Parts: sequence; C-alpha cells; structure tokens
Amino acid sequence: MILVAGPASTYLAEKIAEIARLKLIKLEHKLFPDGESYIRFPESVKGRDLVVIQGTHPPQDKHLVQAYFIAENAVDLGANSVSLIAPYLAYARQDKRFFEGEVISIKSVLRMLKSAGYEKIYTVNVHSPWISGTSPIPLINIHAEKVVGSYLKRLNIQNPIVVSVGKKGEEMASAVAGELGTEYIVAKSSRDKVTGQVVVEIDRIRGLRDVIVVDDIISTGGTMVEVIKALKRMGAEKVYVACVHALMVGGASEKIMEVGAEEIIASDTIPNEYSKYSVAGILAEEILRGK
Ligand code: R5P
Repeated sequence: MILVAGPASTYLAEKIAEIARLKLIKLEHKLFPDGESYIRFPESVKGRDLVVIQGTHPPQDKHLVQAYFIAENAVDLGANSVSLIAPYLAYARQDKRFFEGEVISIKSVLRMLKSAGYEKIYTVNVHSPWISGTSPIPLINIHAEKVVGSYLKRLNIQNPIVVSVGKKGEEMASAVAGELGTEYIVAKSSRDKVTGQVVVEIDRIRGLRDVIVVDDIISTGGTMVEVIKALKRMGAEKVYVACVHALMVGGASEKIMEVGAEEIIASDTIPNEYSKYSVAGILAEEILRGK
C-alpha cells in the first residue's frame, strides 16, 4: 500500500504516513493562472494499491475536482486499486431534498468519486452517518470522539460538564464525557432552512461550572454562538468549544469568541489555526486494518 498526498491534505498525509510507516507519494501540483489545477504523479503507480489523502473542505468544488483527477489518472496509469481518505467529506449536509427540485448533493458527490475510480472512502465524523447505508461506494466513518476527549483531558479543566446539540450530539457528548469521566447534557436546536437562524433550547442547569461544548462541525458558528449565549445566561464560568471539523466561515471564530468562549479546539481534518489535535492516528489505524 502506498499513500498519496493530495494538494488539500499534504500535512495530514505526512503524519499518517509517519504513523503507519507507509511510503508517501507527494503529487506535483500547481494552479494555472486561470485557477485550473495541474496534477502529476512524480513516479510510477502501476500495479500499486493507493490510498489518496485529499480533504474536501473549502474550496470544496476545487478539492473534489482534484480528488476526481487523482483517482482517474491513477487508474489510467495502471494502479491496482485506489481508495480515498477525505478527512472532511463535503456536501454531507445536503443529504436529502429539503425543498422540491433540490440536488441531493452528497449522493452526486459519492457517485462522482466512485466513477473516478475510488473503491472505498474513509472519512471522519461525517455529518450524516446514515448515508453509509445507501452509499454507492463503501463509506467508512471513523469517530474522533476519543481523540477529542483525550486532548481535552490534558487541559485539566476542573470538573467540567459536556454540552452538545441535537440527535448526533448525544453520541458525541456521551463519548467525550465518558473519556473525561464527567456528565453531559444535550441541547435541542433548530435552524430556519431559509434564513439559517438557529434557535437553541437547553434545560436549566443548576450550579453551572465550566463547560465544554462539543459539536461535529462549526461552520458559520451560529449554533455555537446560541449555545454559548444560553450557557452564559445560566451562569457558566468558562466555556470551551471543541469540534472535529472547523470550517469557520464568515467570521465564525470572532463571533464565538465575542460571546465569551475561552478557546476553540478542532482536529486537523481541516488544516487551520484551530487544529489542536490530530486524527492521523485513527486514520492510520483504520487503513492498516483494511490492508
Ligand atoms: C448540526 O447538525 C451540526 O452538528 C452543527 O451544529 C452545524 O452544522 C454547525 O453549523 P453552524 O456553525 O453554521 O451553526
């Protein structure tokens, strides 16, 4: 098995290769003056089993096209098999037709990746885990909760309570709280499909101490801001914010810090200043298991 570092995830690919002790091919990549991607395999991949590491975080469409080019070219160059690690899988939030006529984007993305030549996709905390059941291509969803929990443990936050949001939040909060040996609560949230405005409901907590709010994704920060505001109204002291994927669009981090968060903690699925813990270990473990 050989790892291939896609342009979106070079740093994470290096870490996975080091942990898994696998050879890593770094693709040659540049952008033409008009923004089109140029990609070249610098060595032969004929007969090899490849695992491409290419996140599909923003700019999603560019990263997806690059992922397509890489597999299509690998197959053309005679690779024996090609799998994809997309640490963040784009478009998983559009997993159904909310309004008539809408594109079910994740369905198209998975079909596109399959037609490029990928045989399998590994991802981390996909937004809609239920899509694995109907995916046209095997989709392996790896959970980062333990890694989040062990990072938070090292911060030595005294007697914290873990708070999360929504159906999936329950799973995440219980796993992180379990790792920290503390309790958790789950808030309810709803979002207006047109305006994007988020409304959050949290049961009153007595004697509120320091809080760790966990979520799979922070995108606009709208959900986090409403959760933090509600917690602060209840008297929370310090509020730490932890997620897996920090998309941080439209000034999300400023908005979160403005309402009183202490710190924003995220994984390196999306490389940015919030990447404080790594999913490289769990990804390395999973691909070695499938070897
Ligand atoms: C919702 O199901 C997710 O867990 C996140 O809460 C949501 O995607 C975050 O988006 P935003 O930061 O735009 O509120």
